[in-house]
Amino acid sequence: MLATILEPIMNPAHVPVMTSEVIAALAIKPGAIHIDCNIGDGGHAEAILNASRDVFLLGIDLDADALDAAEARLSGYVSSIRLVHGNFADVASIAVGSRARDASGVLFDLGVSSRQLDTAERGFSFRQEAPLDMRFDIESRTTAADIVNRYSERDLEAIIRDLGEEPRARAVARAIVRNRRIETTTELARVVTGALNYPAHSRVHPATRTFQALRMAVNSELENLEQGLLGAIETLQKGGRLVTLTYHSIEDRVVKNLMRREAVDCICLPSAPICICDHKASVRLINRRVLTPTREEIRSNPRARSAKMRIAEKL
Ligand SMILES: C[S@@+](CC[C@H](N)C(=O)[O-])C[C@H]1O[C@@H](n2cnc3c(N)ncnc32)[C@H](O)[C@@H]1O
Repeated sequence: MLATILEPIMNPAHVPVMTSEVIAALAIKPGAIHIDCNIGDGGHAEAILNASRDVFLLGIDLDADALDAAEARLSGYVSSIRLVHGNFADVASIAVGSRARDASGVLFDLGVSSRQLDTAERGFSFRQEAPLDMRFDIESRTTAADIVNRYSERDLEAIIRDLGEEPRARAVARAIVRNRRIETTTELARVVTGALNYPAHSRVHPATRTFQALRMAVNSELENLEQGLLGAIETLQKGGRLVTLTYHSIEDRVVKNLMRREAVDCICLPSAPICICDHKASVRLINRRVLTPTREEIRSNPRARSAKMRIAEKL
């Protein structure tokens, strides 16, 4: 009981990133249907609902705690929202079942929320001692401990290199295998730090890349992202907007490549003499260069510093 009362004080709500830019990009009109694929604490959702009259919002999240937080925050809008515990990879079918087909806008605000990071027992942070968990959905099967303690050295190296862009992935994987079983976040952070030669006062913690890689592997983030973006495009009505916020280069690359591919009529190799792909453009790009937060926003919310925003419009 005390924990429930203290939770919002100890873990203040996630501060939504680039909110005014998101609202402008979604071009919200009265009576429109919008989908927030990562509702989190409901910060962006609240801004969307306030942006125009009679907006209907479908909010999706894998994290049941996030949905509770969003529900509390959006308690004044019960008849205008539907919250779904689900994976945005299934956005197209969730939209069909939630009166949200032919949406005017779909927002992806990817990654982990401040609340998740700051809730020690979720195991996302190397700064707080906790079991190695990192699942967005605590009902899903694989935890970070399973990967760390069961995967082969080769597979660990591939995950840490490909999903964390850690140049010394081999050394990290070797140290992990040599030191297991590893049960907690801080134990893992110590093992990773020991394997890498970081300058004593480096701005970036040596375990940052490895933790990002494990979180992405635990939650199949890249696979979900690709499928979710395609589902979102399918769900949008003509002229509807797809808006994405990414926080590191790997997920931004997935969004950039997918949007560019969906914005052209032919995706055959340049060497192909005639088109055999039958691909048709489904979106047009609104911004060729990514948008980033203002200096003032980064000053007041340092977690916004790596945000990149991309916008596409359904054809
Ligand atoms: C950065 S937070 C979103 C914050 C939110 N925009 C706000 O204003 O509070 C990202 C959220 O996405 C959720 N998430 C991550 N992957 C997901 C997926 N595949 N499907 C649904 N939700 C997902 C996480 O659980 C987390 O709550």
